[in-house]
Amino acid sequence: MVQVAVLGAAGGIGQPLSLLLKLNKDIDVLNLYDLVRCPGVAVDISHINTNSKVNAFQGAAQLAECLTGCDIVVIPAGVPRKPGMTRDDLFNVNAGIVRDLVQGVAENCPKAQVCIISNPVNSTVPIAAEVLKKNGVYDPKKLFGVTTLDLVRTSRFAHELRPDFDANTFIPVIGGHSGPTIVPIYSRVNKQLQLSEQELKDITQRVQYGGDEVVKAKDGEGSATLSMAYAGYRFVASLLDARHGRPTTECCYIDLAVDPSGAQCYRSLGAQDLSYFSVLASFDKDGIHNILPLDNLTPFEQELVKVAVPALASNVEAGVSFINK
Ligand code: NAD
Ligand code: LMR
Repeated sequence: MVQVAVLGAAGGIGQPLSLLLKLNKDIDVLNLYDLVRCPGVAVDISHINTNSKVNAFQGAAQLAECLTGCDIVVIPAGVPRKPGMTRDDLFNVNAGIVRDLVQGVAENCPKAQVCIISNPVNSTVPIAAEVLKKNGVYDPKKLFGVTTLDLVRTSRFAHELRPDFDANTFIPVIGGHSGPTIVPIYSRVNKQLQLSEQELKDITQRVQYGGDEVVKAKDGEGSATLSMAYAGYRFVASLLDARHGRPTTECCYIDLAVDPSGAQCYRSLGAQDLSYFSVLASFDKDGIHNILPLDNLTPFEQELVKVAVPALASNVEAGVSFINK
């Protein structure tokens, strides 16, 4: 029996993400939670002819029931950006939303794997960790900031530049999930891509600001929802693969304390004191199994990490002090 909850299920990401999860045969029960519109979304999705059962929960009074027994909790609840905003501008609203939802996780399904989509991910993941720590149930193997959309963009944009390159190629992205903290590691595939110096600079910039591209195109109607639903689905499907013993690797934003020796390679890039970083990791049924090293970064990539580190440090500090102030 695998039970998955989506918190914020009636939103722009939540609806298509829930739809994709309904199609996954590894899920037996899908609990959809939101403050609004949830029964309609859940009944609609429940008519899809796969075997899983879909349940609707609406409003804070039903959060505990939604979470009880859950193995995986996915959190896309919160406000999205409008043009001119950074992800950090969402902190004031989304920090409290994530804090309260993760408090529900701590009380009702403390062993669940928790996937944080709500922005700013660089801060909302430390917020979630601090809440779980305060409740005495923190296990860093089971808490992930979902950065998969950065990987999706990294390989897709490479295909746009070199149509012979398979858009589904795995290219790691490390660092965090906002502008300069997003560090795509194109060196892993540059034998195939043969990017010129200028092309590499341009495509890296496009990945770092891919979210802004969508925000601008949506012109006030929010940020990426459909590509994010796909990316969030891919990440949850990877967790499910690992639960079933199928080998899985993904990048995600985690607490480096989960595997100090694996983290060493990332710390040596200039992130000595950082506690959270997006890394390449392998997964098992409990979540993170190992942090996998990414050696031999190019000087260009090492420089990107150097720029990312101070921004990440202040994002992490904002999250930690929000809970402990
Ligand atoms: P949206 O406004 O369309 O949907 C958000 C949903 O959350 C709404 O249905 C709302 O009712 C619900 N919600 C708000 N407060 C809640 C609470 N306390 N409990 C439960 N549900 C609550 O927004 P969206 O486009 O789906 O984006 C959601 C979040 O995901 C934003 O913060 C956005 O920045 C973030 N995002 C992250 C990534 C990523 O790569 N990690 C990508 C895209 C968007
Ligand atoms: C993205 O990368 O598309 C998301 O983080 C949403 C945003 O605000 O850009």
